[in-house]
Amino acid sequence: MYTLLIVDDDPAIVSLLTCSFRKSYQIISALNGIEAITILNKQPIDLIICDQEIPDVNGMEVLSYALKVQPDAIRILLTGGYIHVDDLLKYINEVNIYKYFKKPWSQADLKLSVARALESLDLKRDLREARDLFESACKDAVVMLCLAAEGKDQDTASHLQRVQNYTEALAIAMGIGKKEAEHMGLMSMLHDIGKLAVPDEILKKPGKLTDEEWDVMREHPMAGVRILSSNPFYEVAREVSAGHHENFDGTGYPNNLCGEETPLSARIVKLADVFDALTTKRPYKEAWTMADAVDYIESFSGSMFDPTIVEKFKMLHLDGTLERIKLSA
Ligand SMILES: [Fe+2]
Ligand SMILES: [Fe+2]
Repeated sequence: MYTLLIVDDDPAIVSLLTCSFRKSYQIISALNGIEAITILNKQPIDLIICDQEIPDVNGMEVLSYALKVQPDAIRILLTGGYIHVDDLLKYINEVNIYKYFKKPWSQADLKLSVARALESLDLKRDLREARDLFESACKDAVVMLCLAAEGKDQDTASHLQRVQNYTEALAIAMGIGKKEAEHMGLMSMLHDIGKLAVPDEILKKPGKLTDEEWDVMREHPMAGVRILSSNPFYEVAREVSAGHHENFDGTGYPNNLCGEETPLSARIVKLADVFDALTTKRPYKEAWTMADAVDYIESFSGSMFDPTIVEKFKMLHLDGTLERIKLSA
């Protein structure tokens, strides 16, 4: 059942509104602004009907507060009579009220407005739920794909998780917003998904690869692009797969892209991937110390790696972020 908060300093109005809505909704009332704010802090409200002229904290402040702490709650304003046009504009533009009723209002109109507003609230919540479900299904698909690819390559789940976290931290350091950085981190896990298309004899060959075998190996970035669907959700994953072996000076593969021709996401993941490979034990090598790995990355700044990203990376080393990520995964 929806919860309505009625705020008015006139007990007769509170009781009139309570009587007409209590059959369909749970009603909570407040006779002043402080009381209304206390209620808003304590429990979820679906719709608030608030008088403009109430003692202490006025209607504008109560509805602004509601917008801040419970932004989904529908806000309806009641006014006793004259309201200055500037104030009304503020209610509409800043407090984002759903409707404005002037006393004496038509009870039928108010009821209809409340019902419609709650219908739209329902729709909004359903939409959000569907979006969350879709997002988590897409994230699960990434993890499932990585799990399916595990064992095919030396890239373990913990390597992928660290690359994800280094990528996210580097993206934020490069000025990318939190949500986009998080997405880039998730997509970084798919950087080597194209290795699914490389035969095991090549991928797991203990000795050196022949030139022909290297040719096959070098196909994995574009094989990854083919595996990843054309869905926009995976766009960054396609960028990362295609570009994580390109070098900043144009000597990488598969397309010899130079500098910013390689998307930023791939330039970031390249560094994260190499750094993690250096600092972890692999069958063919011991783990490097973090300081040695940072020196190595720095020595290839401008050739293998984007110098701007290397600078941010050094900052993350100095402030302990890299260390924290390494220890956490
Ligand atoms: Fe790769
Ligand atoms: Fe990797």
